Amino acid sequence: MRVLGIETSCDETGVAVLSTGWHLESSVVESSMALHRDFGGVVPELAGRAHVETIGPTVRAALAQAGLDVRAPQLDAVAVTTGPGLVGSLLVGLAAAKAYALAWDVPLVAVNHLEGHLYAPLLESPDLAWPLLTLLVSGGHTQLVLVEAPGHFTVLGETIDDAAGEAYDKVARWLGLGYPGGPPIDRLAGTGDPTALTLPVSMTGEGLDFSFSGLKSAVVRAGERHAVAAADVAAAFQGAVVEQLTRKMVQALGRHRVAGVALAGGVAANRALRAATAAIAAERGIAAHLPSPAYCTDNGAMIAAAGLVHLAAGDVAGLDVGADPTWALGA
Ligand code: KG4
Ligand code: ZN
Repeated sequence: MRVLGIETSCDETGVAVLSTGWHLESSVVESSMALHRDFGGVVPELAGRAHVETIGPTVRAALAQAGLDVRAPQLDAVAVTTGPGLVGSLLVGLAAAKAYALAWDVPLVAVNHLEGHLYAPLLESPDLAWPLLTLLVSGGHTQLVLVEAPGHFTVLGETIDDAAGEAYDKVARWLGLGYPGGPPIDRLAGTGDPTALTLPVSMTGEGLDFSFSGLKSAVVRAGERHAVAAADVAAAFQGAVVEQLTRKMVQALGRHRVAGVALAGGVAANRALRAATAAIAAERGIAAHLPSPAYCTDNGAMIAAAGLVHLAAGDVAGLDVGADPTWALGA
């Protein structure tokens, strides 16, 4: 089976062709990030308009890269993100996916964006062993998920307030580092002293939920009380975020036997988080799946992977399916 995956839930237009065996035949991603930088965050109207311009060329580029003819590609389905995400952006991808599915006379598969993130490790390790404990950390979500196998997963914990990436973006904005905030804080943190600032330790209990909003406020309060170098703020903040994320990962590993741990979502590109995750896996003799940055952030390949999973289960959508901007993982 061969599936075309279309992702337009936020600022990336991602299209990819994936076939059985998690064989990636092409993947093309266009980002409208440059349009949003000056606004300190993704502007939904601008993101939606950008998708309208890029969706057609990106689909054609992904088909060409896979050696397929746009008039009659040999595809078994078109998979598309229908939520969660920005409704205007989702609708552009969904309308395009419906048109292609109708024109090519193949089924449409509706994919949850977060489920797509869970399959990113497969794109580089098609033969990986299940189950996996996956930490999904992005600008909009922070969840710890037990993935028993493709199509079978349980959310063990999630943030009760801000997402980890959102906290990075807010602290970076306060430090005047621009948007998105993760990469500059990650770079600066390497040169700072994490002990220059004492930050509260959040969520110390047995539960597997996360909280980052108190941490963000504590950084701002501490910085206002006395002058602290930006690098020290970055190092202390990053240390506290990674500490909380990995502490919950370790707690979950104590309760669930898995073959590996995995990171997914934009924050999975974080160097400190990757190093800490690799160390946790090495200590336990299990695999660490740390996808390349291109598969950590939004892309069409992970949506095509979810598409293959659902197509194999006969779970296809009608052409009347709508977008669901708040679709929770597993709902
Ligand atoms: O998954 P993603 O590309 O988009 C969604 O939110 O769906 O994630 C974007 C988030 C942003 O908050 C960005 O600041 C964060 O990922 N990010 C990072 C790093 N690179 C991107 N956070 C920490 N360290 C990084 N190196
Ligand atoms: Zn995402």
